[in-house]
Amino acid sequence: MKAVVLTDWGGAENFTVQEVAKPAITADDVLIEVKAFGVNPADYKTRSGVAPYAKAYSHPIILGWDAAGVVVETGSNVSRFAVGDAVYGMINFPSPAHAYAEYIAAPEAHLAIKPESLSFEAAAAAPLAALTALQGLLEHGKLQAGETILIQAASGGVGHLAVQIAKAYGSRVIGTASGKNEAFVKSLGADEFIDYKTTKVADAVSNVDLVFDCSGADTIFESAKVLKPGGRLISIAYGAMDKVLAERPDIHAERMLVHTSAADMETISSLISEGKLTITVQDVLPAERMPQAHQQLESRHTSGKIVLHF
Ligand SMILES: NC(=O)c1ccc[n+]([C@@H]2O[C@H](COP(=O)([O-])OP(=O)(O)OC[C@H]3O[C@@H](n4cnc5c(N)ncnc54)[C@H](OP(=O)(O)O)[C@@H]3O)[C@@H](O)[C@H]2O)c1
Repeated sequence: MKAVVLTDWGGAENFTVQEVAKPAITADDVLIEVKAFGVNPADYKTRSGVAPYAKAYSHPIILGWDAAGVVVETGSNVSRFAVGDAVYGMINFPSPAHAYAEYIAAPEAHLAIKPESLSFEAAAAAPLAALTALQGLLEHGKLQAGETILIQAASGGVGHLAVQIAKAYGSRVIGTASGKNEAFVKSLGADEFIDYKTTKVADAVSNVDLVFDCSGADTIFESAKVLKPGGRLISIAYGAMDKVLAERPDIHAERMLVHTSAADMETISSLISEGKLTITVQDVLPAERMPQAHQQLESRHTSGKIVLHF
């Protein structure tokens, strides 16, 4: 089979398409013929060698955790899926999964049936970002209907899904991005938009119940400022919460890490099928263009998601 192979740590120029062996499945796995695979910032952090997950790999490496495709083989313990099912999921994260390939072996617990309304491209874009948004808002953020939430980087892969999930759960949503993304973020349901290039967030809002920060060191201290006493700050990209708590000891501040969850994948599928969650795919690229996909993602100005296919 063909796969996008990373030959060394460093830049995106180290990707090449190569012929490799098809993966073997265990009793708990299905073999998926991959129709599309997604990329996430964790991929370029692993590619460059800076991510902690990078330690689990040795070259040549096949990266990627998000995939959508059709089941072509099932292990003897598999009960939820059959050959011919269209499935999608975030596989093995943060351990190696090898999604940048024509076939992937995946534990059935990491997969869900692809909603019929969803293309394979949109399905490949969804899992890691949607699980992060769902778990960030509900499991970690304890979002309640009627609360006000600020979502930093509301136009990005995670943020654009978080806006929609927060609206689906009945909250008032304020989203940040640069001005070019205002119409996009409002189209997702945001009640208010702040252009971070022209406005300091803490000058525009206050007394917020929950901040979901999908940006990082550039936003985290503004995020902490806007919270009401006792408010919650959930970050997916900044870890030094002791520094945040030194400035705002009266809030809950936490960095989360997404985890696989069949139940959460079912919730995401339901939101999609009910028309409450739409996946925006900025670019669908052939696998040979993986270097451009990584470079675009590293710009930190992608709106929605990027997916690739063989
Ligand atoms: N901990 C976890 O489990 C977990 C899970 C998923 C992702 N992450 C991390 O979370 C981060 C976001 O992931 P992602 O996939 O959403 O990234 P992404 O798609 O690359 O995010 C890009 C978006 O960020 C916006 N942005 C950039 N700088 C901003 C700023 N200062 N204020 C507000 N918005 C800003 C951009 O809007 P403009 O173009 O308008 O500037 C763009 O739409 C990454 O660092 C990723 O590694 C962590």
